[in-house]
Formats: sequence, structure tokens, C-alpha cells
Amino acid sequence: MRRKLAAGNWKMNGGSAELTEIRHLTGVLPDSPPDILICPPATLIDRMRSQIGDAPVALGGQDCHNKKSGAHTGDISAAMLRDAGASYVILGHSERRADHGETDAIVKAKTEAAWAEGLTAIVCVGETETQRDAGQALEVVGAQLADSIPADATVENLVVAYEPVWAIGTGRTPSLEEIAQVHDFMRGALAARFGADAAGGVRLLYGGSVKPGNATEIFAVSNVDGALVGGASLKASDFGAIIAAL
Ligand code: G3P
Repeated sequence: MRRKLAAGNWKMNGGSAELTEIRHLTGVLPDSPPDILICPPATLIDRMRSQIGDAPVALGGQDCHNKKSGAHTGDISAAMLRDAGASYVILGHSERRADHGETDAIVKAKTEAAWAEGLTAIVCVGETETQRDAGQALEVVGAQLADSIPADATVENLVVAYEPVWAIGTGRTPSLEEIAQVHDFMRGALAARFGADAAGGVRLLYGGSVKPGNATEIFAVSNVDGALVGGASLKASDFGAIIAAL
């Protein structure tokens, strides 16, 4: 049985003042919560750890370099994320693919670097609206899955997040049938590559305008094992409601 995962991606938001949201969140967790993860800006990871205390909330990064160290000004390595207290890292987010020209090959190399440091990689895939409208969503997602994930994936080191680019930050989501189609397709594609048992253990998250008002119906969709939440993860009350829906 796959454990459900509620992951929050704070993106480039949040500072010291927002650390209180973590205290509020730990105060509203259900009795037997799903796995919970917050990926704040890297500048907050270490301090957020002390806000979390012994609450069941993991920390993650939003990106990492594919090298362990060296002359890469401004970059952060997987080893540095781990040293700060992270156990996960989001890789290949569509915003990085767009803003930083991250290709599937770059995402794959970063995933290998994350695994070398024992981090669980949340590999993001998803189509643009143009690709969706052209009926290419499964083709695009299939190619990203094939070319962004290294061969030695395991259920412990890999999570996949399906984030249709056109649903991120827009308040729009695919229909439940469209989400099911992509998630069922991803499960099948992973099974074809890694075998049904291994693929069956990989958590598949949906991301893109997940809110307290739509979380329950999205989590009821086949092969949806949780969510990668952006805006709604910044507020403890909203993220707490999404966690409770899992
Ligand atoms: O990584 C999650 C993010 O891309 C989704 O953002 O604000 O639509 O929940 P949002």
C-alpha cells in the first residue's frame, strides 16, 4: 500500500515571518497524518527544522545542482540540502524547465545527484496548454518520464508529480477523468520500465491549483497518491485542510 504524501512547494515565497505558519500547521495535523513535506526556499530549511520539532513533517529543496560541490556560483548541491535537514528535493519543475532551460537530461542528472546523497527526488512532468489542446499530453508526459528518470529508480528514492503547466497558479484543473487518464498512464509507463511491483510503490502526486475545495475529489482519482501544492501550502489553514482530505 502506498503511503499518501502531501507536499508543499513554497516556491520563491516566505521569510522568517512565515515560519510561524509551520507552528500553526503542526498544531492542526490529524491524528494519523499522511506523509507531509514542505519545500521552502533553501534559506529557510535549517530554521524551519527547529519550528517543526518532532512533528511528522519532512523538509525538502526545490532544486539541486548535479555536482556535489565546486565553482557553481549561486547553486546548491544535494549534499548541502541534506546538510540543512532536507530529505526530499523537487526536480524538473515546469518553472525551472521554462525559466532555466532545464531539459529532461539535466533533470535526470540532478536526480542522480539527489539519489547519491540519499534524497528522495520528486520528478515533475506535465504538458503545456498548447500540447494538451493538440492531444499530445500523454506523449509529452511519457517522454518526460522516460528521459528524466534514471534507470536505478526505487520506490524509496522516487516520487513523480504530474503538474499540467496550464493548471499551475491559474485556479484551473483538468477534469477528474483527465487526471485519471494521465495518472493511470504514468503508472503503466513506470510498470513497463521498472516492473509492476516497483512501479506500484512509486507515489504519483497531482499538482496544479489543488485547494481545500477540490482536494477530496482529486485524491479519490485512481493512481493519485497525494498532491504537490503551491499557493495553498503557504497558509497553514489551507494546507492543513488539504492534508486532512488525504
Ligand atoms: O509545485 C506545485 C505547484 O506548481 C502548484 O502550484 O499554486 O497551482 O498549487 P499551485
